[in-house]
Amino acid sequence: MNIPLLGFGTWKLTGDTCIASVSKALEVGYRHIDTADRYDNHQDIAKAIKDSGIAREELFITTKIWFDELYRQQVLDSTNRFLEELQIPYIDLLLIHWPNRQIPIEETFGAFTEIREKGLIKNFGVSNHTIHHLEDILTKGYEVTCNQVELHPTFNQKSLHDFCKSHNITLTAYSPLGMGEELQHPTVIELSQKYSVSPAQVILNWINARGIVAIPKSSKPENIEDNFKSQNWKMEPDDIVKMNNIEQKPRLLTTDWQDFDY
Ligand SMILES: NC(=O)c1ccc[n+]([C@@H]2O[C@H](COP(=O)([O-])OP(=O)(O)OC[C@H]3O[C@@H](n4cnc5c(N)ncnc54)[C@H](OP(=O)(O)O)[C@@H]3O)[C@@H](O)[C@H]2O)c1
Repeated sequence: MNIPLLGFGTWKLTGDTCIASVSKALEVGYRHIDTADRYDNHQDIAKAIKDSGIAREELFITTKIWFDELYRQQVLDSTNRFLEELQIPYIDLLLIHWPNRQIPIEETFGAFTEIREKGLIKNFGVSNHTIHHLEDILTKGYEVTCNQVELHPTFNQKSLHDFCKSHNITLTAYSPLGMGEELQHPTVIELSQKYSVSPAQVILNWINARGIVAIPKSSKPENIEDNFKSQNWKMEPDDIVKMNNIEQKPRLLTTDWQDFDY
């Protein structure tokens, strides 16, 4: 899967703010946009893409299907709706947004395989899956292309990353800036001074240096541009280790429907 290491997150961006933010992201060079049915912004993203005039094949669009719509017919119907809303002929990466062990994976991955054969999606994968969830899917003989999870300096997902690397699963970091909360971390500040870059760039550069995709979200043009510049410099190996060794804390995003203890 040819997924750009830096993508643009769009959770909580809707309407004109979404159109303006995605337009800015495309203008500064992002070619990977992360959305979800649940974000209610497919049509806004479609507008920004259309206005940009950028060819479809230059873009990488990820979207996600909600955890109560994972039966075969629901997947087929939802995918057709997503394509209409996004005004694109295919989705680059379709993810199960959250695991749902009540619905057999054969239903969902079977339908994903069908629609991939029809050319409606290029790749499929999962989000918010633990090692145990991934093992269940792999045991059934399916490949997992991608797992999108919360990941930032104080929640570095080391063991999940090791597992994904050994099974050729691309790991994508959501909330890479810890929803903005990690920008004040002393190690991040120290390195931002050393490299004369923003704290956000330090975090994004570190995530990409680990071979992990990052999808920061911003509604501010200057931040959208700044985050993109995180790809323009190289962190020294000792500093990557320093970032890796930051003291870990609990995850930030918890929900009623999560299954993280599995
Ligand atoms: N799969 C899932 O279940 C899941 C869950 C959560 C998120 N996601 C995806 O991951 C994306 C990113 O996660 P997130 O939106 O939760 O959080 P995030 O990207 O870690 O942080 C976004 C926050 O950081 C601020 N920010 C961004 N760039 C900045 C910069 N250069 N300097 C200072 N502040 C900056 C933003 O404020 P401004 O807008 O003011 O710049 C915003 O408040 C989401 O948008 C979504 O696409 C997926």
